[in-house]
Amino acid sequence: MEINRRVSRRGVLGMAAIGTAAAVTGGAGGFFAGRMSGPPATIADWGVSDIPDQTGRRMLITGGNGYPMEGRSGLGYHVALALARAGAEVTIASRNAERGEAAVRLIRQVAPTANVRFGRLDLADLGSVRAFAARINDSGEGLDLLVNNAGVMGRRTRETSVDGFERVFATNTMGHFALTTLLRPALLRGRLPRVVWVSSMRTANAMRFDDLQFERGYDYAAAYDHSKLANLLLAFEFERRSRDGGWGIASLAAHPGVARTNLIPDGPGLDSPEGWRFSYLGLMFQPAEQGALPLLYAGAAPRALAGGYYGPGGLMGLRGAPGVAQPPAAAEDPEAAARLWTQLEALVA
Ligand SMILES: NC(=O)c1ccc[n+]([C@@H]2O[C@H](COP(=O)([O-])OP(=O)(O)OC[C@H]3O[C@@H](n4cnc5c(N)ncnc54)[C@H](OP(=O)(O)O)[C@@H]3O)[C@@H](O)[C@H]2O)c1
Repeated sequence: MEINRRVSRRGVLGMAAIGTAAAVTGGAGGFFAGRMSGPPATIADWGVSDIPDQTGRRMLITGGNGYPMEGRSGLGYHVALALARAGAEVTIASRNAERGEAAVRLIRQVAPTANVRFGRLDLADLGSVRAFAARINDSGEGLDLLVNNAGVMGRRTRETSVDGFERVFATNTMGHFALTTLLRPALLRGRLPRVVWVSSMRTANAMRFDDLQFERGYDYAAAYDHSKLANLLLAFEFERRSRDGGWGIASLAAHPGVARTNLIPDGPGLDSPEGWRFSYLGLMFQPAEQGALPLLYAGAAPRALAGGYYGPGGLMGLRGAPGVAQPPAAAEDPEAAARLWTQLEALVA
């Protein structure tokens, strides 16, 4: 069957994962059922009502704008809402306080018992990432789930981050790499901790190791696809390092298919090719709420596998309920992943 074939490609990681991921609910039944049969055949039926009780679990979601402008809310908003509804203590960490606080207000309106707050974090500013991570680590509390969701699709001309790096790579990849590695102490204190890296069906064919910052031939779409390949490589590399090092932190990847959010209007704009599709081919874009489901599956489903990759299960992976996603071959290259990790360590130091 399709799901089993895909999982068996990642067999070693998958097997290592089952215990970790299944044990989120603490149920031995989950462990054995998972090991015997792999992911449930009914994964396509999975929805927010299947999220187990998350009471007592601390979660951090990067990027979350809840402003319901023209029916668009970022994926982070829906991830945070669903997890807070399931009882988790959720922090939305984003660069824009106005939008992030609007997301928190909206969540509290629709879920009055939600334990949710906003934290200011600019992923395109390594100083901000360091200060944010230090606050969490210094609190002494554990972190049970980190969802590396925030992202930008670049503008049409190359922009740079506070630290002088190309803005798409700085935000989507470097900022999340720095955040995740810096937050390892808090994750190590977490209970059955997980990290979810958000990628895309759009990924580059290879990393540009000689030009990670797109100093030559910048193109916003290429820069975005490149950053999303990088995030997949990092998801799988983090999982390998966690397994080899006995960290006990599960690392997973997810993508939302194609969802109606602020990514395109805030990025290349409505007069770009993506913007044209956004404006005139609206049916291509599923609601953000549905696009958030694979991220939620990776973050909270007891049977999600460490090292696994989840995306919509319908219409060639573009939309629908969650399913197991097929990583591109370029993302399953441990040498490229290790090389990227080493280069990023040097860049964010
Ligand atoms: N929508 C899709 O079809 C699609 C497809 C594939 C992958 N994705 C991925 O899904 C993730 C969520 O995107 P979305 O579609 O929900 O888009 P979105 O509505 O634009 O949300 C992106 C979020 O990232 C935040 N962000 C941007 N730069 C940041 C920075 N420097 N520091 C901290 N936060 C920052 C944004 O903050 P502000 O609120 O301040 O703008 C926003 O909250 C992204 O990683 C994206 O690549 C989306």
